Amino acid sequence: MVAPILFPFFHDSAIVSSLLMQSHLEKGDIIFHTFPDAETCVRVNTTVKNRAVILLADLTKPNDKLLPLIFSAETLRAQGATFIGLIAPYLPYMRQDKSFHAGEGITSRYFASLLSRYVDWLITVDPHLHRYHSLNEIYTIPTSVVHATEPIARWIKQHVEKPLIIGPDEESQQWASHIAMQVDAPWTVLKKIRHDDRQVEVTLLDPTILQNRIPVLVDDIIATGKTMIETVKQLHTIRAAAPICVGVHGLFVENAYEELLAAGALQVVTCNTVPHPSNGIDLSEVLAEALLSLRAE
Ligand code: R5P
Repeated sequence: MVAPILFPFFHDSAIVSSLLMQSHLEKGDIIFHTFPDAETCVRVNTTVKNRAVILLADLTKPNDKLLPLIFSAETLRAQGATFIGLIAPYLPYMRQDKSFHAGEGITSRYFASLLSRYVDWLITVDPHLHRYHSLNEIYTIPTSVVHATEPIARWIKQHVEKPLIIGPDEESQQWASHIAMQVDAPWTVLKKIRHDDRQVEVTLLDPTILQNRIPVLVDDIIATGKTMIETVKQLHTIRAAAPICVGVHGLFVENAYEELLAAGALQVVTCNTVPHPSNGIDLSEVLAEALLSLRAE
């Protein structure tokens, strides 16, 4: 079988070259031109006739990227691509998984339904599955979820002595408990009340669990950073050691990264699903494995 062609889509980081190397894929060239009226023209510079293609996309700040993504998929098909896979290491629009206030739409569903119309499968890393148990509840294409827990656990084992794994809210229990099991450390989750987009309140239920341990906060997404910042402050008030903050997807809205360090985090480390200087945990190997098993099906 001829190997698919991989097109980096708004993704220009080490993970692209690493994935190309590990999966022995050819790199495709796609360019976008923005006209003076802000409309987009897509040009595919690689022959894709009768070939399967994969878009490796950074879909953070997704609104601006969605139309170019749809146009790319249409252009690739028009030029004869037989199959289009999407690797979106960070999958956006997963947090609006219910109507939180009267009149609100459930955008996770609409986004999923739109993507499902244009690509044939999806690989992503730890999507925010809270009220959904699986992506199949909203995506109608085959999906494969890669977990960052093992690479994160490996990083913690190599860098932290006597860690205590802390999830800043109940939703993070799935990551905190798995990681703790793999590093053989105790874990706990905090109780979080979200007042609005930028205001959260967290409570550590049992401070005695901290004794002589380095707190390692783990969460799937660091967006405004407020969840982690409040947790860091809470730990500071009970005189715990300065914590290490680990995020799967570091979105770091505005100055979130700097604010988190200023709040007292000893170090902030993220996986390379979203390019950022804090990327210290490489997921290209687990993504390449997922790609290989999807191709083998
Ligand atoms: C939400 O439930 C997630 O797991 C994260 O805790 C949340 O997205 C973090 O957002 P922020 O950094 O804006 O507090």
